[in-house]
Amino acid sequence: MSKDKVQIFDTTLRDGEQVPGCKLATKEKLVIAKRLDVLGVDVIEAGFPISSPGDFGSVEEISKLVQNATVCGLTRAVEKDIEVAAQALTYAKFPRIHTGIGTSESHMKYKFKATPEQIIERAVKATAYAKSYVEDVEFYAEDAGRTDNVFLARVLEEVIKAGATVLNIPDTTGYCLPDEYGAKMKYLRENVRGIENVILSCHCHNDLGLATANSIAGVQNGARQIECTINGIGERAGNTSLEEVVMILKQHPYLNLETNINTQLLYNTSQMVSEKMGMMVQPNKAIVGANAFAHSSGIHQDGVIKNRETYEIIDPAEVGVTESAIVLTARSGRAALAYRSKKIGYELTKNQLDVAYQNFLTVADQQKEVKDNDIHRIMEAVQIQAGALA
Ligand code: KIV
Ligand code: ZN
Repeated sequence: MSKDKVQIFDTTLRDGEQVPGCKLATKEKLVIAKRLDVLGVDVIEAGFPISSPGDFGSVEEISKLVQNATVCGLTRAVEKDIEVAAQALTYAKFPRIHTGIGTSESHMKYKFKATPEQIIERAVKATAYAKSYVEDVEFYAEDAGRTDNVFLARVLEEVIKAGATVLNIPDTTGYCLPDEYGAKMKYLRENVRGIENVILSCHCHNDLGLATANSIAGVQNGARQIECTINGIGERAGNTSLEEVVMILKQHPYLNLETNINTQLLYNTSQMVSEKMGMMVQPNKAIVGANAFAHSSGIHQDGVIKNRETYEIIDPAEVGVTESAIVLTARSGRAALAYRSKKIGYELTKNQLDVAYQNFLTVADQQKEVKDNDIHRIMEAVQIQAGALA
């Protein structure tokens, strides 16, 4: 059975770049955009053109550069925003305008001081106006996660009539539970006229650590686009992490969903974005963290040395990591010490290993990690020479 495609909409350069301290110069954005295009993302959200002349310039330059992906510019439901975005996207091979408005009670009441009818009117006007510039118009219902489903369905039905091609259902505040977000997608699929002609999109924030789970629940319930960022960077606790959703779909083939991403480029891309944005990747970050394929306890190390699959569900090579790491600590066992020692030239007999291991434990109790140079010192202390087969 052929798999359904889930489009990957990368917003590292827009929602990701909103993080304080992560601002990039156009030159750096171009390097990242080029990498995202090679990585295989379907859509690159390049920026918010009206927000500053710098952002306008970045969207324009990215539009000229990108060869495969759709290039998207964000706007509010404001005519001037849309005009400026259309202008910035002039050179894009596949341009998309991403326009929208808040639809939750609190957004309507406090942000827009508008009635639900006025919100619908503004949403329709913005969509139709964007459509007069480009064929591909994505509409976002900001704070859809906390929007009443019946009202949300009404808004969406109207923007479909006005020409929207993609409907973004943002959980802007990261509030939803996965079953709730999935049920929202299902409700919209079943209750919005014309929904079969458009793509439903997940855009989840990570305030409760649920962005990835919510996005997966979304695609399990019919969404066919996920909006995400490299390393999950983004406002507050971040956005859905691209590498996580891509690998979840790959590792669970029975979901019958696939993406265009070349997963072997994930680790390098993560490092590149981290370096350019000056945002360190937490060591325990799934898929791309320094410890994602590192094993330090004796029981786990023994298993991984015998067969990698005992404690790893992903072959590190699949995401561009050269190999699993066996990290030596006071929790490591003989198998790990023998394994690491062999890698650096010491083939130990059982007796030699026993002696070396006692010495190793003394060293390991005094420091966080035992490195290769410590092993050389241990071997010297117990008079074992590299390459000396017993
Ligand atoms: O989180 C959000 O609602 C957004 C929209 C502007 C798409 O980023
Ligand atoms: Zn967002």
